[in-house]
Amino acid sequence: MCGIVGYTGNKQAAPILLDGLSKLEYRGYDSAGVAVKGTDGKHEVVKTKGRLRVLSDMINGGKALKSTCGIGHTRWATHGMPSVTNAHPHHNDDQSIVAVHNGIIENYVELKEKLLGKGYTFYSETDTEIATKIIDYYYKKWNNPVEAMVSFTLRVRGSYAIAVMFEDYPEEIYVARKDSPLVVGVTDGETFLASDVPAILKYTRSIYYVDNMEIARLEKGKATFYNVDRKVIKKKTKTIDWDVEAAEKGGYAHFMMKEMHEQPSVVANTLNSFIKDGKLDLGEAGLTDAQLAKIDNIQIAACGSAYHVGVVAKYVIEELARVPVHVDVASEFRYRNPIFNKNDLLIVISQSGETADTLAALRGAKESGVKTLAIVNVLGSSIAREADAVLYTKAGPEISVATTKAYSAQLIVAYVLAVQLARVRGKIDDGRYSALIADMLAIPSAIEKILSDDESLKWFATKIANRKDVFFIGRGIDYAVSLEGSLKLKEISYIHSEAYAAGELKHGTISLIEDDTLVIGLITQPGLVEKSVSNLVEVKSRGAYIMGVTSSGNYSIEKNVDFAVYVPTTDPLFAASLAVIPLQLLSYYVSVTKGLDVDMPRNLAKCVAVE
Ligand code: BG6
Repeated sequence: MCGIVGYTGNKQAAPILLDGLSKLEYRGYDSAGVAVKGTDGKHEVVKTKGRLRVLSDMINGGKALKSTCGIGHTRWATHGMPSVTNAHPHHNDDQSIVAVHNGIIENYVELKEKLLGKGYTFYSETDTEIATKIIDYYYKKWNNPVEAMVSFTLRVRGSYAIAVMFEDYPEEIYVARKDSPLVVGVTDGETFLASDVPAILKYTRSIYYVDNMEIARLEKGKATFYNVDRKVIKKKTKTIDWDVEAAEKGGYAHFMMKEMHEQPSVVANTLNSFIKDGKLDLGEAGLTDAQLAKIDNIQIAACGSAYHVGVVAKYVIEELARVPVHVDVASEFRYRNPIFNKNDLLIVISQSGETADTLAALRGAKESGVKTLAIVNVLGSSIAREADAVLYTKAGPEISVATTKAYSAQLIVAYVLAVQLARVRGKIDDGRYSALIADMLAIPSAIEKILSDDESLKWFATKIANRKDVFFIGRGIDYAVSLEGSLKLKEISYIHSEAYAAGELKHGTISLIEDDTLVIGLITQPGLVEKSVSNLVEVKSRGAYIMGVTSSGNYSIEKNVDFAVYVPTTDPLFAASLAVIPLQLLSYYVSVTKGLDVDMPRNLAKCVAVE
């Protein structure tokens, strides 16, 4: 996600802005920029594509900009390719208002139409330019920056941490926040703002956390906070005792834990980006309902966890839309001379958008004239650029090598595709369509609930940390979750594990089950509970020690397992999004118990862009 910084005080602003942005580089970005109050009273905006170093060189490390008030930004593209034009700060026509923003304005299309109707023009593809011009519109209406920020807050939907300078109010910065993090620090004669604590920790450890729907007026050494009723609110500061490295992880011990806890907001942001007026809309991705209706066969190619999303997608799409789905690891798919039919769709799934095998699978399908769809996290990545249509996950940069939030975001995109496909093919009625959307909207809070209660998993992890072999078993979607659970454990704890379709155990693997063998059973599919439980009984009778993951209410499994973990109920088709969370947590705690490098496991890379 993007990073914003700001400063008003008695020192030159630009060097402080660059320093703050450098502390946010870990968040990932593709362009950067700063704006300062120029000596002639006009705003000066400098921005570039690429690394912060390029920006710094453009302004001689900041020395070239004399002002003592400014804002800065590192951009992780969500709307509009990485480019100088799309880089922040954005501004109104005469640059009398400049702004930087981290977040996603969901109703940007509606707002743009409103502004076009008022004679506004646009130079970029970003939602932030629209946000800035909405503020300009309200500032012209009220002639008061606080009023303009309040109106902005009430008018836009989505997530934002936005910092704005108004030419009429030199040396001041106005901020507003909803769902994107924003902190403010005030010292003697100086005031700082940033998306995240690391950017201002060297100047002050006494931080204001701006809460949702709050606005602030930042002056030198002073911050005044308002609610949307324009009432001044008293806020308490929090003292940060983290070091910078811990601060980059949001106070979590590892990026993986931070990213696991980002899953609720990432899933919500991703899902909301496809919901328009209560219905799903994939038009922006280049997939019209008419095109969807023509698809009569789907092939999926991906690697690692992305492949596991493909396995879940197969079950969900076939169950809902009744379209055959074939899923394969991209490294196999690309070399087996795949067979395509006229109305096939190839779906590739990739967080990085650069995985060599997945990219090769995409290119092979395109050479065969097959329509291609990518589910990708990185805007402007090779796979995103080369696919015919792209559905973006809104996971933001994922730092930890073992994916969690990107996997969860890919799942929700797969559900959205399956539900819309079922809808256009007339396989589900309005009632089921609305119910499925409502169930998807409930997933983030269900994930939150699981994450908030992980004590028992932390305890269990210490019990199994020295295991040498673990089996994950499940049927249907539970089997697909077993694949991801097994990979997570292997990736970060280096314990050998194997995922098995539970019904397949008796055809060989059960010979490996002996006294105290650890088996982790997934039982979230109502139609398969009985069969799954009988598989657990089979391994139990051979001495296995069993952990069971099931939906709340299915307490009858207590007699069949040694350690039961419950996840909130949801439509069984979406159960993977919940059942995977305890497995992520368990693997994390096992890795921590073993004292391993959770975020950078041995031998692994975040993206295998070469074969
Ligand atoms: C591996 C990563 O290298 O590549 C996995 O460690 C990931 O987390 C897999 O699932 C595929 O990567 P991508 O970027 O194509 O999703």
